[in-house]
Amino acid sequence: MVVVKLLLEINDLAVEVNGKEILSDIDLNIGKGETHVLLGPNGSGKSTLFMAILGFPKYKVTRGEIIFKGEDITNYTTTERVKAGIGVSFQNPPAIRGVKLRSILQMESMGGIPENEELNPEMMELVTKLKFDERFLERDINLGFSGGEIKRSEILQLLAQKPDFIMFDEPDSGVDIENVELLAEEINVLLDKDKKPGMREKSGLLITHLGYILNFVNADTANVLMEGKIACSGNPAEILEDIRKEGFKGCVECCRVH
Ligand SMILES: Nc1ncnc2c1ncn2[C@@H]1O[C@H](COP(=O)(O)OP(=O)(O)O)[C@@H](O)[C@H]1O
Ligand SMILES: [Mg+2]
Repeated sequence: MVVVKLLLEINDLAVEVNGKEILSDIDLNIGKGETHVLLGPNGSGKSTLFMAILGFPKYKVTRGEIIFKGEDITNYTTTERVKAGIGVSFQNPPAIRGVKLRSILQMESMGGIPENEELNPEMMELVTKLKFDERFLERDINLGFSGGEIKRSEILQLLAQKPDFIMFDEPDSGVDIENVELLAEEINVLLDKDKKPGMREKSGLLITHLGYILNFVNADTANVLMEGKIACSGNPAEILEDIRKEGFKGCVECCRVH
């Protein structure tokens, strides 16, 4: 029997934002080398779960625990979580005036303040692959970037950082088809999809509203979030087919049973 070692374990989690409970009874187990997808209608709490796992102070855990690599990180700061190996691609990341894309890529790839301005050849290859160039690297992060440039920059930063567990919040939203395929290709690299399942080290949680990205990135398990609760977890192809046929309306029935 193959024993999947858990990388992320969420037990009975409840999360409050501005005094209002948004998530409750959340159980989620993601094994080492596994990719989970989180589906759900707008406003069901997907980004809230993302922020809670990342440890943003505004997203208050009122019950339950988050275990990462066997360690209880429920009370860790965001910085501590990132240092432990969690990486993210935000749905709408903020612009950072005065910080060049080049600088953040250097910091992420070197793991600290770099000594010089040069990116190593491996990083420069990725820059080109993601359709950026030397001139673009001088721009302030996300300032005036197009939707597609923001998403490509998020993925590029993750490629520099190489985290063990990555959450992607709707990487396919607002991106044209050509760019979704390019992003998916790199998401597959980030999640070790080029390796055999048993050899994969990296894990991920892919949040998507429409499931479009799943045409290009394979997930091991799908979880559907409805009104702040996990309505079901299971085979991604089966669950997607149901949602495509009936919409999320069909999930309401499952919520009542759980
Ligand atoms: N900062 C916030 N302040 C108040 N309510 C919030 C905040 N963030 C999210 N919510 C509420 O939490 C619910 C879930 O939102 P969200 O997690 O963004 O859903 P999703 O990502 O699935 O679209 C919504 O009802 C939203 O209005
Ligand atoms: Mg969201």
